[in-house]
Amino acid sequence: MEKPQGNRESFATKFGVIAATAGSAVGLGNIWRFPYLTGEYGGAAFLVVYLVFVVAIGIPVMLSEFVIGRSAQLNPYGAFKKLAPRKPWYLVGLMGVAAAFMILAFYTTVAGWTLEYIYQAVIGGFPGKDGVQLGEMFSHFRDHSWRPLLWFFLFMGMTAGIIVFGVKKGIEKSTVIMMPLLFLILVVLCIRSLTLPGSLEGIRFLFQPDFSKIDSSAILAALGQVFFSMSIGMGTLITYASYFPKSDNLLGTSFSVAFTDTLVAILAGVAIFPAVFSFHIEPGYGPGLVFVTLPGIFQQMPGGSFFAVLFFLLLALAALTSTISVLEVIVAFFSEELKMTRKAATWTAAGTVSILGLMSTLAWNPMMKGVTLFGKNVFEVLDFTSANILLPMGGFFIVLFVAWFFGRQKAASELSNEGTLKTGYIPFYMFLIRYIAPVALAIIFLNGIGLLRF
Ligand code: TRP
Repeated sequence: MEKPQGNRESFATKFGVIAATAGSAVGLGNIWRFPYLTGEYGGAAFLVVYLVFVVAIGIPVMLSEFVIGRSAQLNPYGAFKKLAPRKPWYLVGLMGVAAAFMILAFYTTVAGWTLEYIYQAVIGGFPGKDGVQLGEMFSHFRDHSWRPLLWFFLFMGMTAGIIVFGVKKGIEKSTVIMMPLLFLILVVLCIRSLTLPGSLEGIRFLFQPDFSKIDSSAILAALGQVFFSMSIGMGTLITYASYFPKSDNLLGTSFSVAFTDTLVAILAGVAIFPAVFSFHIEPGYGPGLVFVTLPGIFQQMPGGSFFAVLFFLLLALAALTSTISVLEVIVAFFSEELKMTRKAATWTAAGTVSILGLMSTLAWNPMMKGVTLFGKNVFEVLDFTSANILLPMGGFFIVLFVAWFFGRQKAASELSNEGTLKTGYIPFYMFLIRYIAPVALAIIFLNGIGLLRF
C-alpha cells in the first residue's frame, strides 16, 4: 500500500489496519461490560437495540473520526487545529486527550485485575470456594491488598512497552498476533460453554428477544455501550486513522471493525450465558459477573481451571489491544505538539497517567476511600465522567464538525479516496451525522449528567 505523505508512520497492511482498530474496539467493553448489561437488561431485546445503534450511530461517528484523522494526519488536537485554523474546534481535540488520561487510568485498573485472576486461576485459587467466598476474595483483593497496584504498573508497563516501538513495529505487529489469538480463545470458550448440560437456555436468553424488558434506561445503556465499545467519541480513532494508508477504504474498514466488535461481544455472550444458565445462576449479576460469578462456574465444570486461565487471558489480551490505542492518543499528542521523541513521549505519558491510575486503583483502599465526589470514589468518578460526559460530548462535536464545518465535499473526497471509490452512501451518511447522531448524543449526554430523565 502507498504511504501517506512525509515521513509519518503508517500501518503497513490492510490486516494491520483492521487488527489495530478492531483491537482498540474489542476490549473489556465487549467481554466484561456487554455481557453484564445484556444480563441486566433482559438479553436478546437489548442486543437488538444495540445492533440498531451500531448501524445508525456507531458507524457514522466512527467514519467521521476516520475522515478527520486521515485527512489531517495528526493527533486529535493537531488535527482540529489543522483542519480548522484559528477556530476553537481544537478544544474538542484537547478534550479527547484529557479523556484519554481518564479512561486509561480506570481502564488499566480493571485490566490489572485480569492479571490477578490469571494468576489465581493458575495457582488454583478458586476451587473450594463458594459464591460468597469468591465475592469476599474479590473485595479483599480490591479493597485491602497492594497487589492491584502491582498489576496496574505491570499492565501500564506492557502497554508502554508496545507503544514505544511505534505504529508498525509496536501497534501493528502486536495486534496482528493478539487479535487472532483472542478469537481462537473465544471460540474454544464458546465450544466449552455450549457443550455444558442445559446450555440451550443461555442461548435462548441471548437470542430470543423479550421486548417488554426494554425501557428508556435499557435504550440509554445500549447507546452508551455502543460508544464505549466502538472506541468512539474521544479521538482514539482519529489518531489511528491518521496512520491509515491513503488507499484504505474507510467505509470498508468501519464495517469490518464494527462487525468484529459486535461479533466478539456476541461470542462473549455465547461463552458466558450458557454456562451461567447451566449452573443456575442469576444472569443480572452486574459488574461482578466476570470476577465473581464466573470463577464460581469454572470450578464446577470439567476442565474448569484450564478454561479459567483461558478466559482471564482473553480479557487481558482484549484489554491490552485497547489500552495501547488510548495511550497512543497521548503519545501522538506529546510527540507532535510538544516535539518529544517517541520514547520520551511514551514514558512521560505512561508516568503521568499512572499518577491518576494509582488513585483509581487504590480507590477502594481504606487510604483513599474517603476521597469521593458526589459519593463516587476516584475510579467511579473517572469512569462516570469519561463514559457519560466526555465521550458523548466528544462524539457530538466530532459529528457536528464533519457535518457542518468540514462539509460534505471534503468528507466525500476523503471517503472516496479522491473520487476513486463509490460514494452512493454519502447522502445517507450525511443525514445521519447531521441530524440523527447529534440528537442521540445530546440525549445520552443530558441523561448522563442527570438533566433529562425519562
Ligand atoms: N472500546 C474499548 C472496549 O470496548 C475501550 C476503549 C478503547 C475506548 N479506546 C477507547 C472507549 C476510546 C472509549 C473511547 O473495551
